[in-house]
Amino acid sequence: MTEPTLFSPVTLGALALKNRVVMAPLTRNRAKPEDDTPYALHAEYYGQRAGAGLIISEGTQISAEGKGYAWTPGIYSPEQVAGWKLTTKAVHDKGGLIVAQIWHVGRISHTSLLPDGGAPVAPSAIGAESKTFDGTGFVTTSVPRAMTAEDITRTLADYRHAAEAAKDAGFDGVEIHAANGYLIDQFLRDTSNKRSDAYGGSVENRVRFLREVLEAVTGVWGGDRVGIRLSPFSNANNVGIDSDTLGTFGAAIDVINSFDLAFVHMVEGQTGGPRDWPDGALDTLRARITAPYIANNGYTRDSAIEAVAAEQADAVAFGRLFIANPDLVTRLKEDASLNPLDPDTLYGGGAKGYTDYPTLADATA
Ligand SMILES: Cc1cc2nc3c(=O)[nH]c(=O)nc-3n(C[C@H](O)[C@H](O)[C@H](O)COP(=O)(O)O)c2cc1C
Repeated sequence: MTEPTLFSPVTLGALALKNRVVMAPLTRNRAKPEDDTPYALHAEYYGQRAGAGLIISEGTQISAEGKGYAWTPGIYSPEQVAGWKLTTKAVHDKGGLIVAQIWHVGRISHTSLLPDGGAPVAPSAIGAESKTFDGTGFVTTSVPRAMTAEDITRTLADYRHAAEAAKDAGFDGVEIHAANGYLIDQFLRDTSNKRSDAYGGSVENRVRFLREVLEAVTGVWGGDRVGIRLSPFSNANNVGIDSDTLGTFGAAIDVINSFDLAFVHMVEGQTGGPRDWPDGALDTLRARITAPYIANNGYTRDSAIEAVAAEQADAVAFGRLFIANPDLVTRLKEDASLNPLDPDTLYGGGAKGYTDYPTLADATA
C-alpha cells in the first residue's frame, strides 16, 4: 500500500473519489426567486469545480417549510429536480462526483420566507436570537413553534421525498445537514431541545429524530451513498453549546455508526472561525466514528496535506478557498497562488463573484 496523500484516490462507501480534496457545502443564494430553482448558472459554477474529488452541494431545502434564507435552492419540486439535473450533468461530464446537501433550517428562518407567513418549526418554541437573510438584508429570525408529532412525521416524509428527488436529479448521493444549528442540530442539543416527549429530555430521546432521518434517507439510497455533517463544537446560528458535548455527540455518532454511512463530515471548531474545542475532545469523537472521515474548517494546503498523511482525515473539505478558486485541486497540487475571496458577492446576485473567478490557465492566457 502506498501512503495516502491529499491527491491520491479514496473510496467513501460507494463513492470513488479521484482525490481527497472535497468542495464544502456553500450557500450562495442564487436560485430563481420565483420557485427556488437552480439553473444553467449553477451548472456552470459546479462544473468549473468538478476537479474536486467530491462536491457537496450548497444546502438545499427539503421542503418550503425547511427554507431559511432568500434564494436558496430546493430539492422537492419537479422544476427544482430539472434545474439540478443541469448541475449533476455538468459535473459528471467533467468526471466529477456531487452529492446534495439536504437541509431543513428549523428555527433559523423568518415568517416572510415561509408558506402563508407561518412561524418556523423547531423542537421547542425558543427563538435563536440569530439572523437570516430575507432578500433585502439581515433580519432577526422569527420565534418558532414547537413541532407536533404530526409535524415530525411530515418532516421525515419530506426528508425521504428530498432523498428521492436527489436521486431523480442525478446526484451521486446525499449529505444530511446535521450541523450549524439547523433542525437536526436543534434536536440534538439540550440548549434548543426542551421537549418532554419521546424526542426530548434524555440523550437517547434527543438522538431519536436524527435516527429517524437516517432511516428515511438510507431507505432511499442505502448508507453507502449517504454522508452526514456535524459541528459539535460550533455555536453557529447561536444554537448554544450542549451541556455535555461529548455525551450528546458521542451518542449521535453511535447512531450514525449503525447506518454504515459513506462518510461523516466534521466542522472542526467554530464554523468558519477558530479551530477550538475542549482538550482532546475532537480526537475522542473522531475515534468513535467508524465511517470514513471528512475534515473541514480553516484548512490550508499544508494542514490538509498533513491531516491526510497522518491519517487524521480520509479527505478534507474546503469552503472559502473553493469559492475563489475553481481549479483549487490544480493550484494545491502545484502549490500555486490562490485568488482572494470577494466577500461582497458571497450571497445573492449572478455570475459576478460566482462563475468569473479565473483559473490558473485563464490568468496566464
Ligand atoms: C458563503 C458560505 C456559505 C456556506 N454555506 C453552507 C451550507 O450551505 N451548508 C453548510 O453545511 N455549511 C455552509 N458553510 C460553511 C462551510 O461549508 C465551511 O464549513 C466553512 O466555510 C469553513 O470551511 P473553510 O475554512 O474551508 O471555508 C458556508 C460557508 C460560507 C463562507
